[in-house]
Amino acid sequence: MEPYQPLSRSIAGKKAIVTGAASGMGRATAHLFASEGAQVAVTDLDQGKCDAVVQEIADAGYDGSADAWALDVSNPDVITAVVGDIAQAFGGIDILVNNAGFAIPADVAEESYEKAWSPTLEVMLSAHQRMIRAALPHLREAEHPRIVNVASTEGLGASPGNSPYVAAKHGVIGLTRGLAVDLGREGITVNCICPGPIRTGITDAIPEEHKTIYAKRRVPLRRYAIPEEVAHMTLSCVLPSAAFLTGAVIPVDGGLTIKNA
Ligand code: NAI
Repeated sequence: MEPYQPLSRSIAGKKAIVTGAASGMGRATAHLFASEGAQVAVTDLDQGKCDAVVQEIADAGYDGSADAWALDVSNPDVITAVVGDIAQAFGGIDILVNNAGFAIPADVAEESYEKAWSPTLEVMLSAHQRMIRAALPHLREAEHPRIVNVASTEGLGASPGNSPYVAAKHGVIGLTRGLAVDLGREGITVNCICPGPIRTGITDAIPEEHKTIYAKRRVPLRRYAIPEEVAHMTLSCVLPSAAFLTGAVIPVDGGLTIKNA
């Protein structure tokens, strides 16, 4: 029998970009990666909010570190420039987490539908491929290159009044699978997380009693998750030891998507 092969579960020294990292799951991911020794680019719309997360990470005294970059992922020119800056400042990119997003309700019968469509598809689908293509030359140089796309359980099914978001999130799953196939020969893994109901900026406005009713009715674990619980799954996907995991679509949803009644 071959000797047992210990595989590395360390991302110490890895250089990671997280989009939408000023809040919610992106912020939790930035903290977790830095706590595991990685060098993290905290990117989001507002420089001040990125700086605040970087300060939190510095104050926490982790082994890793973080730096802030303002990055609006809906702007293709900015994406190329900022990803290049980060790669230069860090001396490479090993990990990309496409996480930035928002939720705009969209009633298909209303004029405003069109207004919700384009920004939703830009930020939550087109930006993923643009970030990946901008990071690709650097990922190709990495020893264990990893891409994680944050989709949603709305990529696996659909809630009412939300179809641009549903379309974007289904698209993220398709993009993940397509690129996992295309980039597999280079050893670049591309995986996708599908969070269920999580306590973040996006769900902040939902009243607590509605959250409780929804969770008890729909979620086997009967609660919303905290963003750290999703960040830990993202970490699992980017470990050097996750080298044979690609094209995976991983619900982190408390059982939401397997419950029929
Ligand atoms: P959040 O609101 O706490 O964080 C999202 C971050 O993305 C914010 O800091 C926001 O400024 C940033 N962002 C928005 N547009 C951007 C742009 N154009 N460029 C750069 N950054 C931008 O929300 P959350 O929940 O942490 O969202 C993260 C991801 O998780 C999103 O893709 C969302 O669709 C997804 N998701 C969230 C769920 C939830 O229940 N909270 C469930 C399933 C998926």
